[in-house]
Amino acid sequence: MRVLGIETSCDETGIALYDSEAGLLAHALHSQVTMHNEYGGVVPELASRDHIQRLLPLVSSVLAEAGCAPRDVGGIAYTAGPGLLGALLVGATFGRTLAWAWQVPAIGVHHMEGHLLAPMLEDPAPAFPFVALLVSGGHTQLVEVQGIGQYRLLGESLDDAAGEAFDKTAKLLDLAYPGGPQIARLAEQGVPGRFVFPRPMTDRPGLDFSFSGLKTFALTTINQHTGPGGLPDPQTSADIAHAFQEAVVDTLAIKCRRAIEQTGLPQLVIAGGVSANRRLRERLQEGLVGKAKVFYARPAFCTDNGAMIAYAGCQRLLAGQCEPLEINARARWPLDTLPAITA
Ligand code: KG4
Ligand code: ZN
Repeated sequence: MRVLGIETSCDETGIALYDSEAGLLAHALHSQVTMHNEYGGVVPELASRDHIQRLLPLVSSVLAEAGCAPRDVGGIAYTAGPGLLGALLVGATFGRTLAWAWQVPAIGVHHMEGHLLAPMLEDPAPAFPFVALLVSGGHTQLVEVQGIGQYRLLGESLDDAAGEAFDKTAKLLDLAYPGGPQIARLAEQGVPGRFVFPRPMTDRPGLDFSFSGLKTFALTTINQHTGPGGLPDPQTSADIAHAFQEAVVDTLAIKCRRAIEQTGLPQLVIAGGVSANRRLRERLQEGLVGKAKVFYARPAFCTDNGAMIAYAGCQRLLAGQCEPLEINARARWPLDTLPAITA
């Protein structure tokens, strides 16, 4: 089955064509980052309007790249939530309309299930069951995954998501949006050990997270070292970025190790924008030697993209799931309410 995937939950328009036999045929992405940058974050209404303009040209280019015509598409998968409601509705309306015009089934995909399954597009792919660490701009969750739609939440952030903490700390250092890659770049110049940030909630049992205190710790440290320009000098900023990143990465690694020990599962999948972080990947691999193998997607498939939606949607369409003609999107959508696919 050949499925067209449509991702519009936030500030990236992603389109992809996935074939259940041949794999990923083509994918394309338009990022709105430069448009939102001058506002320091995503402006929802601008995001929705931009998705409208980008969708059709991106679909045409993906079909052309794959050498396919609309009649070769057997199903449509679009992100139905969670995310920005307006942006979601653009993708859902577009996807449903294409499905009606092309007379094929359509399915609304859970954005975090898309992230969770993105490493399946790589070789070697993880095999069920595994533990997944989902780390994006809106979510930080540890999930035991028995199969598609068989998710048991092991722990989650009680306040800010890991990506959100990166973005907020980057803003304090006057770095551009999105802050994760900027902090990661700056941290490379940082002197290890000059600052030491706390590892929140690692001194007690459990698999939940809390990242909002790290942002406050960063603020206090920045204020203590602010120079004449209203910011610390460049080396101090790099040292703070380094200490912040180490704290986030270390905290995530400690909880992942705990989840692996608790479940006894020998595979860890990391997914979502923060899983693109090189230091996180290194630290997890070091920390899980002899305990678990770590799987992740290529960086372009860690952040939002159409390929993960096409893949997840294809699995559900193959299992006979599809949605009626109504157009639905959900700004909030608990992952553990999804229907399971059982063999
Ligand atoms: O998955 P994603 O593209 O969108 C959401 O579903 O939220 O994740 C975006 C988040 C942002 O907070 C961004 O700063 C973070 O992922 N991110 C990173 C890196 N690349 C993206 N955080 C740390 N290091 C990175 N290399
Ligand atoms: Zn995402």
